[in-house]
Amino acid sequence: MGSGGREHALAWKLAQSPSLGKLFAAPGNPGIAEEAECVSLDASDHGAVVSFCRSHEIALVVIGPEAPLVDGLADSLAAADIPAFGPSKAAAQLEGSKGFTKDLCARAEIPTGGYVRTHSRDEAVAALDGFSAPFVLKADGLAAGKGVVISPTREHAEATLSDMFGGQFGSAGAQVVIEEFLEGEEASFFAITDGTHVIPLGTAQDHKQVGEGDKGANTGGMGAYSPAPVLTEALQQRVMDEIIRPTVDTMRSEGMPYSGVLYAGLMLTATGPQLIEYNCRFGDPECQVLMMRYQGDLAAMMLACAKGELEGAGAAFAQETALTVVMAAKGYPGTPQKGGAIALGDAEANGAKVFHAGTAIKDGSLVANGGRVLNVTATGASVTEAQKAAYDAVAKVDFASGFYRSDIGWKEVAREKGDTPQN
Ligand code: AMP
Ligand code: GLY
Repeated sequence: MGSGGREHALAWKLAQSPSLGKLFAAPGNPGIAEEAECVSLDASDHGAVVSFCRSHEIALVVIGPEAPLVDGLADSLAAADIPAFGPSKAAAQLEGSKGFTKDLCARAEIPTGGYVRTHSRDEAVAALDGFSAPFVLKADGLAAGKGVVISPTREHAEATLSDMFGGQFGSAGAQVVIEEFLEGEEASFFAITDGTHVIPLGTAQDHKQVGEGDKGANTGGMGAYSPAPVLTEALQQRVMDEIIRPTVDTMRSEGMPYSGVLYAGLMLTATGPQLIEYNCRFGDPECQVLMMRYQGDLAAMMLACAKGELEGAGAAFAQETALTVVMAAKGYPGTPQKGGAIALGDAEANGAKVFHAGTAIKDGSLVANGGRVLNVTATGASVTEAQKAAYDAVAKVDFASGFYRSDIGWKEVAREKGDTPQN
């Protein structure tokens, strides 16, 4: 279920799974259509999804984005005895409510920034007294990645709280979490769990800002690479022991077992990894680089997860680095230009893979149909080499109304040269 670059990467890997019979995608996109039969199904119409699954004897539903998970699609499928990869509505609160996650961290003693949950502007403004600038303000609910504001001054924070409680994010802003500002480098850690067993699923770093050098407006992600060498083996062990396992154990013991992929956004602080946020699905575009490296039978692993039978110690990943460059339509993350012509040429010639994130076929030709349009992904023995291979492929794509960042992976490329990256 889904239609972005993440779902293209999942469909591409699922299509390679020896255990796969037939793959459908709903609604899919022109890239996914090369791997699956695309059908038009509305993820919010649970009855329609269940009846499609019944009539096509679907053995496993993989739910890509967070919205249908937070909306309980996995519960509706479970009620119909259809295995689904992705958490229940109760478990998806880990992404659907920032306050829920902070409270869980407090109960399970998981390292994260200090916080206060607030329910009105007055309460929130008063709570600012307990924090210092920069102020981290988070709309509690799902806000399409826009619900977090870092306010440099108290005045800015108070204005932001007026916007949030004034309905800027709809009901997602009915509660606001105020949080301690954490310093360090950000990295992402992925694990797959059936509620009891937990398997690490790799690391990545993404670039959220639209501009070179990580400057400018926040986006869904302009590029990513995996693995993230800043998350050393020792740090990954700490993340598993101090963050992931206590979360999975607490969710299970409190009657909300978490099943699916658990994506931890981390701040690597001077005292160790701290949780910034959880997502209840794969990252986009982090999934694209993970799938580029994944070597197992994805369908089999996801089905085992969905059935509570996730056994074994690890998932098989290639040692090499994968790096993806997002090609976006001009205007993104504001209003993107729609309909721009795209020619992929022989971008995939040297083992690169072009995942479709926001494309459509118009009059028989490929055109842009979204903010993030293509994820040009390649591998190499180092971040430097993967970066070079990815940009070689980008150069072969003809997309005049698009743009991309030319520095994806820059921090790690600097470190590979022996330099210290400066923000
Ligand atoms: P997202 O929730 O993905 O929109 O991301 C919000 C971004 O805000 C994160 O990726 C961090 O860069 C930043 N952020 C969120 N919480 C904190 C925090 N407590 N301290 C510092 N930065 C934060
Ligand atoms: N790339 C960030 C996310 O998927 O949330």
